[in-house]
Amino acid sequence: MTDEIWIIGATGRSGQTIAAQLAQRNRQAVLVGRDAGRLEAAAQQTGGQLLVSPSIVATAEKIRQQRPRVVINTVGPFTATAPLIIDACHDTGSHYIDLANDPDSLAAAFERQSRAAESEHSVITGAGFGVTATESIVVKLCAGRPAPLHVRVDMLPSMATAEGTAGEALVGSLLGSLQGRRISDGRLVPAPIGAEAMTLTLPDGTRATTAGMPLGELLAAHRASGAPSVVSASSAAPSSLPARTAVTALSTLMRWDWLRSVATRQLGRIHVKAKDAPRQHSWGHAVATWADGTTREGWLRLGEAQEFTGAVPAEIAQRLLTGSGRPGVFTPAALFGADIVTSCGGEHLMGS
Ligand SMILES: NC(=O)c1ccc[n+]([C@@H]2O[C@H](COP(=O)([O-])OP(=O)(O)OC[C@H]3O[C@@H](n4cnc5c(N)ncnc54)[C@H](OP(=O)(O)O)[C@@H]3O)[C@@H](O)[C@H]2O)c1
Repeated sequence: MTDEIWIIGATGRSGQTIAAQLAQRNRQAVLVGRDAGRLEAAAQQTGGQLLVSPSIVATAEKIRQQRPRVVINTVGPFTATAPLIIDACHDTGSHYIDLANDPDSLAAAFERQSRAAESEHSVITGAGFGVTATESIVVKLCAGRPAPLHVRVDMLPSMATAEGTAGEALVGSLLGSLQGRRISDGRLVPAPIGAEAMTLTLPDGTRATTAGMPLGELLAAHRASGAPSVVSASSAAPSSLPARTAVTALSTLMRWDWLRSVATRQLGRIHVKAKDAPRQHSWGHAVATWADGTTREGWLRLGEAQEFTGAVPAEIAQRLLTGSGRPGVFTPAALFGADIVTSCGGEHLMGS
């Protein structure tokens, strides 16, 4: 097996940020993508060898042939790509990292727990901003305590947008995660998107509203806390009535796979204008409540969310190459502890 780190989807926003973060850690990646020209342009920014592969199926086959040490998958929707790549990594014993951010993809990865343990490699899912930031706070809040009754996590990403197209990977992931859910009595149950809106006062004194938007952090917070009731919310969720009604209608339509594929292709081509990050910091937030009425709250402050999404997989890849992984399927803080985020520029601000 070679000491290589492959980035699948290396021409994308996340792929390029991860390659830059690896370069900062003195590691060069193999940039994997569908188009030689776009890969060459990406390599001019970050360096790295190029591997042209026309599809995810072809990439899975190349993993089996070339046996890289670490594979980082940035191609959503992860419900479609992760099972193929994880299974190839099981066959070779390559470590696997992805940016999955929806409950179904995380659940599909956890179903492969016993296979990962047999293959003696680490599978780390949810290594992007949302899951990693909120999970790390929950791990800190719950350390050394019994399971709380209720946990709420909020993510407030602050992200600059570069001019370009929205992209099928991002749009496909968004359209595939429009089904509202929460954890109730320990089980994933339907819940309206945009429900449970709350206005938070951030540690810097500014205010922001978050509302229910169950992404992968819902499952990660449940696993980290053991709480029977968990809600996850985001500042990006629709909280006004018209926006919530539109999202509910869209989520009903997107249950048809063929319609979702057409919408993903069409919306993926939409031109996006450059936009500055809306605030100086991105934030993760969590509140846990115990049976005796105790409540604990914590924050994670970090910079631009996309930078953090690049730093987390790069830091994890570095740690895996130096032998600090262990066999199984994990979210980042479950394997490396809450302080993985401090190696990626985050700072915890914990209440008493
Ligand atoms: N967990 C988190 O917090 C978090 C944060 C950021 C992003 N994400 C997720 O990460 C994914 C990537 O986001 P992004 O902003 O980096 O997207 P992006 O800029 O559109 O990049 C997507 C990459 O995937 C490739 N790709 C797309 N469809 C493909 C296919 N069918 N087969 C092979 N390659 C394909 C593209 O390659 P081509 O050049 O060939 O088109 C491109 O390199 C999204 O699913 C997003 O939701 C998660």
